[in-house]
Amino acid sequence: MDEGLLEGEANLKSCLEDWSDLNKEFTQLEATHDRYKKVLEDLWDIQKKCVTGIAHHRYRMKQITEKMTKIKENSKPETDEALKRLRSEMQQRKSQFREMEECLPHKNGLYLSIILGSVSVSLLNKEDKFAYKYNYETFKATVSYISMALSLVLLFVSDYRWLDAVLHFLLVWYYCTLTIRENILMVNGSRIKGWWVTHHFISTVCAALTLIWPDSYTYKYFRGQYSLFCCYLSFLYIVQFFYQKGALYRLRALGQRHEMDITVEGFMSWMWKGISFLLPFLFAGYFFQLYNAYVLYRLSQDPQCKEWQVSFLAIIHLILSVGNITTTLKVVVDKLRTDRRQQLTTKYRFNSHEKKDS
Ligand code: COA
Repeated sequence: MDEGLLEGEANLKSCLEDWSDLNKEFTQLEATHDRYKKVLEDLWDIQKKCVTGIAHHRYRMKQITEKMTKIKENSKPETDEALKRLRSEMQQRKSQFREMEECLPHKNGLYLSIILGSVSVSLLNKEDKFAYKYNYETFKATVSYISMALSLVLLFVSDYRWLDAVLHFLLVWYYCTLTIRENILMVNGSRIKGWWVTHHFISTVCAALTLIWPDSYTYKYFRGQYSLFCCYLSFLYIVQFFYQKGALYRLRALGQRHEMDITVEGFMSWMWKGISFLLPFLFAGYFFQLYNAYVLYRLSQDPQCKEWQVSFLAIIHLILSVGNITTTLKVVVDKLRTDRRQQLTTKYRFNSHEKKDS
């Protein structure tokens, strides 16, 4: 027989054998996939039960609290004692609910629903939350390095309006992205103060107004100062990144009890050192912003000023500066007043099965 024909038959036989082997493996794969679908369905069922269970408990607790308000205090010492115990137990139960909700899906808020629709952005384990938060901080730092370099260039090169527009457009995109990422962080239990998110919304408007500000006398007057401010702001974001990165890694070490190399006291002492280092730089930035508002206001009164953007920007810089000063002071005062030790140790505590190499 022809040698080529023989070789062809041998190859066909080998192909059929391989296919038959693969068929057996495929049956196994199908069974595994069926098991996966079943586990997924069970998971959805249990998730639903937990979410409705928590809602039911909250509803019952609200009813009990309403009843409690009708009980007169100072009637009998036993009554007072029982009420006090009940209140403290209910408080404890509320924090247990918060802890339970950390690994349950959450609904998107209005802003995310508008932008993303109903797609779920819930991260169901603490390691994913940690990774997402770290990614958010790295994103801020990366864009800040770029905007710092760009604004430095603008300080020395003043003839190209399109180059200014590149920086302003970058800032519009950056702040918009931050608001989305921050909303996702909040859905996943981050305690970012509402002001910082609002600050990024307002900063988007500020960058957009600067982008459309015509290349006029007023623009040319303010441009150098604004480039310097952008440069300083980028520097602020970078120093904040080192603080937040340090805090994140220390919080994770706190959560890993078995390999704990940091105590809550150690964390608190590091945090205060970090904040004391940051505060002078932050406040210098806030006063710079206040000065921007003043210069813009003076400029808006100038007879040569024809652009509506100038007075709007003066108001925006003023709002941002006052909001930043009051919020930062409030954060520091809250930190001095409230004891969040328990919260710190559980924040990024991974179970051993959640832990991957990172
Ligand atoms: N932007 C985004 N997130 C912030 C934030 C900010 N400016 N300040 C705090 N957060 C986050 C924290 O990372 C933490 O998140 P988590 O719950 O997901 O872990 C949460 O908000 C609570 O933080 P808190 O304990 O209140 O403060 P902190 O110790 O992390 O930081 C400061 C305190 C003062 C250092 C910080 O708020 C800060 O840098 N403020 C100045 C920001 C600023 O001025 N920006 C504008 C000009 S650059």
